[in-house]
Parts: sequence; C-alpha cells; structure tokens
Amino acid sequence: MSDKFLSYGRQTISDDDVQAVVEALKGDYLTQGPGVDRFENELKRQMGCKHAVALNSGTAALHLAYAALNVGPKDAVIVPAMTFAATANAALYCGAVPVFADVNPQSGLTEATHLDVAIQKAKKQGLRPKVLSVVHYAGLPVEMGPIVDLAKSYDMKIVEDACHAIGGEYRKNPSDSWKKVGNWGPESSAAALSFHPVKHVATGEGGAVATNDDHVAEKIRLLRTHGITKNPNDFKNKDMAICPRTGQVNPWYMEMHELGLNYRIPDINAVLGESQTKKLPESIRMRRTIAGWYMEVLTGLPLELPVYETENARHAWHLYPIKIDYEKVGRSRAEVMQTLKELNIGTQVHYLPVSAHPYYRALGYDIPPQALSFYNRQLSLPMYPALTQSDIGRVADGLRKALKS
Ligand SMILES: Cc1ncc(COP(=O)(O)O)c(C=O)c1O
Repeated sequence: MSDKFLSYGRQTISDDDVQAVVEALKGDYLTQGPGVDRFENELKRQMGCKHAVALNSGTAALHLAYAALNVGPKDAVIVPAMTFAATANAALYCGAVPVFADVNPQSGLTEATHLDVAIQKAKKQGLRPKVLSVVHYAGLPVEMGPIVDLAKSYDMKIVEDACHAIGGEYRKNPSDSWKKVGNWGPESSAAALSFHPVKHVATGEGGAVATNDDHVAEKIRLLRTHGITKNPNDFKNKDMAICPRTGQVNPWYMEMHELGLNYRIPDINAVLGESQTKKLPESIRMRRTIAGWYMEVLTGLPLELPVYETENARHAWHLYPIKIDYEKVGRSRAEVMQTLKELNIGTQVHYLPVSAHPYYRALGYDIPPQALSFYNRQLSLPMYPALTQSDIGRVADGLRKALKS
C-alpha cells in the first residue's frame, strides 16, 4: 500500500491560493469585502455572462434561482432523477413540488422527451409546470436546443444545475459558436454553480448564480442578504430614511423588503474562489487530457466509457463516470470498490436517484426506471487535474484486477 491514495475527486490548491487567503485574513474584511466583487468579476470574465452572484453553496444558488423566478406552492419544478438531492430539495424549500424526469440510460443526462413526460405528470397532479431544472451531469452539458423549445411551448423557465459543469461549453446547433456554460442567453434564466472541494473551483463551501437576466441577478443579491437593501433609491419608509433637517439619507438606514436568508460567501472563501477561477482553463485542459488517457487505457475492459463530447456539448469533466454490468462480470459493485480501495484507489457512485432516498419515497415518489438502471451500473473513477498518466495507468490496472471474477 505504498502508492498514494487517489480519491474520486479533490481540490488542487497551490501557493498562490494560500497567499490569497492569507492576504484576506490580514485585511480588513472577513466577509463581504472586496474579494466578493473580484470573485464575481472573474466568474463573469470566464463564463462571459452578464452577472455572477457569489453565495455560500451550490444549494443556496439553486434555492435562490428558483426563488427569483417566484417558484412557490402549486408549482412543479421538473428535476432529473439522476442528480444530487439539492436540485430537488431547493424546490421544496420554495414550497413547490419537484417532479422527477427520467434520463438517458447511457449518459445519465435528461433530454427534452423525458422532461415532457414529467411535465404531463405534473399537470395530471394539478400542478403548474414552472421550471425545467436541467443538470449537466458529470460536466457534460445537456442538449439545450430541444429543451429550450420545450420550455417555450409550455411557457416555462429554465434553470441549469451547472454545479458539475463550469468550464463546459454548449451550443444549439453545430453552425452556432460555442458558449461557456452559464452564458446560454435569455432562454435560460440562471445557472447554479458549486465550489465544494471536489468541484473545479474550490472555496471550501461556496456557490454562485450566473445569469444574463438583470431582474434575476438583482433579486438574488437581495435574497442572499436577508432581503435587506441599502440602496436609497429603493427605500419605502421615506419618513424614516431621510433626515428631516438635512434632507439627506440617514447613514445607518437600511430596509428589509423580502424574506431573505444569509447566503453570503465570506471574503476568505471568495478570494480563494477568485484565485482558483483564474486557473479554470488549465483545470479543464488537464481534465480533458485525463479523460483522453482513460479512453486509451480502459478500452477493451468489460465496461462502458462515458461520452467524450457531443455535437453540441463539450465536457467539463467534473466526474469520470464509467458503467459496468456487474452481473456479467461476476463481481458486485461493492467488491469492485473494495479491491480498488485496497490498491489505494477511491471511487464513488453518482447518484442514488433522488426519488430513491427514503425521504422522497415516504412522499410517494417512484424511481424513474432508466435513472435506476444508470445508477445500478455507474462508478466514478478518480478525476482531478493533479492526476498523472501513470496514476491513470494504476487505475486501469486496478480495474483489470477488480473485474476478474
Ligand atoms: C448536481 C449538484 N447540484 C447541487 C449541488 C449542491 O452544491 P453544494 O454542495 O455546493 O451545496 C451539488 C453538490 O455536490 C451537485 O453535485
């Protein structure tokens, strides 16, 4: 066991990241200082979107994206079953009902046809289909064109759960130019990002909403800080806001206009995010290289490789999800994971379909069959920029051993 442990995902922190945090700690602000603006500007620069609003988690980003679209009771948010629980939970936080869509059993991605089935289901339950929440699973963007058309035909909004996909690219047609995930345009209201340590940009905990919609950005900025505004133009209690002697706005004055939350990201985390985001192109380049190495060394093994890219989507490679027919190879998934663990190779399963969690089952949800089939075969192999070609060789050798029954 002398080989170093390869986890399925991990942060890459270098000296400049450490220096950025040290400077923040020595500075005047621990939260909501200049680091937040700088982080947001760097996110905007990388994605090309009009607004980036930094928050303290990807879950907060999903919650506020739905809230900014006025998602509420009797509304259905259509959510792919193959995702992390937060995509659906955030709909419940708004008092709305998540309705689960199935996914393509090969890619794990939801498609317009699956979403349409879920819309009909929502309608039958007497719900108002309000938002299509699409997940760029593992970092491969969904096929947006037909989804945009579907949303239009039902007058629904699109929220992208892009927590896996910062740095990915997509387009409607091969004749269009590529856009960075988070900058689709007006047909998509918002993209939620996560900066959890296994993600491309790590801030400890952290998230952001990327949007080109001024109203959505403004509402999320308000809701992230208790729904309290300090903007004199917005003040409603004019008598309390203005000094009767000078006619000027009182210097202490602020007002709460909405029931918001404390979803602010501290400056300490934001400066780390800025430093990490500057290195995003290099992270994506390395991840693509690693995916290429995997393709070379895993070919011929009894497993299915993930789709490298599609005509309209370029992968961000947050995860490297393979699929194995465990019955056929005569080893259970737990046995395969255990053999790899003994070789110091970490793996994980993404995800138990959300509606299979006991919380959702107790609410009467069933499990979409293709999401279940995908889950039954899925295994995430190590994927992070610091992996070397010899590490990937080690993973392939380990799998060769683990798959021998
Ligand atoms: C697809 C997806 N959505 C949402 C989230 C929630 O992000 P966070 O952990 O930053 O709250 C995650 C995090 O793992 C995720 O993978």
